[in-house]
Amino acid sequence: MAVNSGALDAQPSRIVVLGTGGTIAGRASSAGDNIGYTAGEVGVSQLLESIGGFQDGAFRLVAEQVAQVDSKDMGFALWQQLAARCAHWLAQPEVAAIVITHGTDTLEETAYFLQAVLDPAKPIVLTCAMRPATALVPDGPQNLLDAMAVASTPGAHGVLAVCAGNIHGAQDVQKVHSYKVDAFSSGEAGLVGVVEEGRVRMFRPWPSAIDFYKENRPLAQAEIAREAIKNIVINAAAARAWPRVEIVLNYAGANGLLVDALVAQGVRGIVVAGTGNGTLHLDLQAALLRAMAAGVRVLRSTRCVFGRVQAMPADAIPDAQGLSPVKARIALLLELLAAP
Ligand code: SIN
Repeated sequence: MAVNSGALDAQPSRIVVLGTGGTIAGRASSAGDNIGYTAGEVGVSQLLESIGGFQDGAFRLVAEQVAQVDSKDMGFALWQQLAARCAHWLAQPEVAAIVITHGTDTLEETAYFLQAVLDPAKPIVLTCAMRPATALVPDGPQNLLDAMAVASTPGAHGVLAVCAGNIHGAQDVQKVHSYKVDAFSSGEAGLVGVVEEGRVRMFRPWPSAIDFYKENRPLAQAEIAREAIKNIVINAAAARAWPRVEIVLNYAGANGLLVDALVAQGVRGIVVAGTGNGTLHLDLQAALLRAMAAGVRVLRSTRCVFGRVQAMPADAIPDAQGLSPVKARIALLLELLAAP
């Protein structure tokens, strides 16, 4: 494996590895400590040294440190920077794929965001770890190796996430466990495939943009504006202020106070994570209807991990078309961002 830190040479195929931080780059004071660490400390070049065994002679690696954050602190500015770096590298004919090292906590949001904005014809593979780089038995190096295997698989495309040998699509991936090394699920959609000893075994086709938009009506409505969205996100000259879109939750005893306060603060969109089939306490529903009457876009998702809201014609609040609350928020953010 050869690692460059910047300039391209004459080699035909590169995998660019963008570091953003996370537990995969975490450092603890003792090797036995899997939880008392600081995320985002070990550089991406050092992470690549830990997989000196990636011996695919067809590819050279280019490392770039885009950020060093705990992904709970991910935000719009870093998303924009990351999308811009991805767009830059994807446009280079020598670049075959991008691997992104990322924290697990908001990985599914970044994956969905990048898929929605870039719809890449080449693979962008996010990977992560649940144990810090300094752990006695870290999971990061294997995840990184597996991500490389996916990135270098002919025909791979779109935004994918690789963790614990599993390959997830951006549409479906969700962190479902707070501690286990195998922390992600693709729910009822299932895995795209698995990585076994460096070989990819597929269970279904690589997720395509067509499927992605078919599944996402809130975003599909904005599909004609997708080039505009991309331009606004990655081109500093076209940048706009991000609309405020918040998530509220239904629960026993919920009320409309938070929603009323958000509307008073000028919120542009609200995603409500309803109970069960997107059901809402009467008081919360009344506040959301007031918000809609005031021009706020509202989408109804469910706080259930599995399943989706089954819509009915008489529904007063549109459902999020199967998107989880955090992904529905991103869809709405992008739609509002591109609105005239
Ligand atoms: C993070 O999301 O940056 C910290 C937690 C993790 O990566 O597992």
